Amino acid sequence: MRIWCPWPLDDSALWYGYYTPFRLETSNVARHDNIRKMKTIRLNQEAQIPVLGFGTWQMRGDECVRAVSTALEVGYRHIDTADVYDNHKDVAKAIKESGLAREELFITTKIPRDLLCAPDVLENFNRYLNELDMPYIDLFLVHWPNKQIPILDTLGAMNQLKQEGKVKAVGVSNFTEHHLEDALSTGCEVTLNQVELHPTFNQLELQEFCRSKNIAMTAYSPLGRGEDLSHPTILELAKKYGVSPAQVVLNWITSRGIVAIPKSSNPGRIEDNFKSVSWTMGNGDIEKIDSIPQEPRILDHPGSEFDY
Ligand code: A2P
Repeated sequence: MRIWCPWPLDDSALWYGYYTPFRLETSNVARHDNIRKMKTIRLNQEAQIPVLGFGTWQMRGDECVRAVSTALEVGYRHIDTADVYDNHKDVAKAIKESGLAREELFITTKIPRDLLCAPDVLENFNRYLNELDMPYIDLFLVHWPNKQIPILDTLGAMNQLKQEGKVKAVGVSNFTEHHLEDALSTGCEVTLNQVELHPTFNQLELQEFCRSKNIAMTAYSPLGRGEDLSHPTILELAKKYGVSPAQVVLNWITSRGIVAIPKSSNPGRIEDNFKSVSWTMGNGDIEKIDSIPQEPRILDHPGSEFDY
């Protein structure tokens, strides 16, 4: 694989590499050299996830095609989508138009909580490959847990897809510690948990738990849907480093070794967010953001199992 890892591989911790685009000389359309500086987190022997990805929630049709095209042009190589976002075909269109090779990209998608029985997983996954017009998915996630369906059934099917070479890494989303313990007790691969995480909902306990189990994390709604950008601590640090508040928040997340997938349909903001990986935040400032008072999560709904 073209991505290299400067550290000896070590089972006791997540380890990092740098993203090295495969055909940089011939097909790189990136506007920013940051693509070379993009850190990755190793998920397993076959997959390393770039720490900054492009979130596509609530984007469909031309808006989604335009936004993903801009993101690819700027230099993002990691795109996050899901069945319920109903935009697989739009993502595929933007990728096709970019001319980038499949192996230059890292694609995550997710299966909804009502399709977690093994036959549903296998059947719908084939639909995802058709919609996304690609032979494999880099990271395949359970979108929301569902205690009505044995997790072994779901993860067994997802890991079967991995053995068939159609998935590089398997993970979950919106899982609590208890869900993760259930999942790990199956012995199946669970490489990553994607959850809401931003300065006013920092999930420090879940971060600690995931670290102890060698499970990587992705932060969705990393900007707190834009709400965290006006927090006084974030504004103060933006001034100190001479960057935007969004860059401060994203840099804080990726500096902690967590993947961030900011969403934006605005070209200037898509580019601004990408620049967040090009500078380094001091440890004291990371801790300063860690100590911001916490607020309730933004995203909850009756079907969630956050109380488990
Ligand atoms: P827009 O799409 O108009 O840029 P999150 O990723 O936490 O869900 O946040 C997404 C929200 O934050 C969207 O409303 C998006 O609006 C806004 N946003 C994304 N990037 C930036 C940025 N760099 N500065 C300000 N707002 C941003």
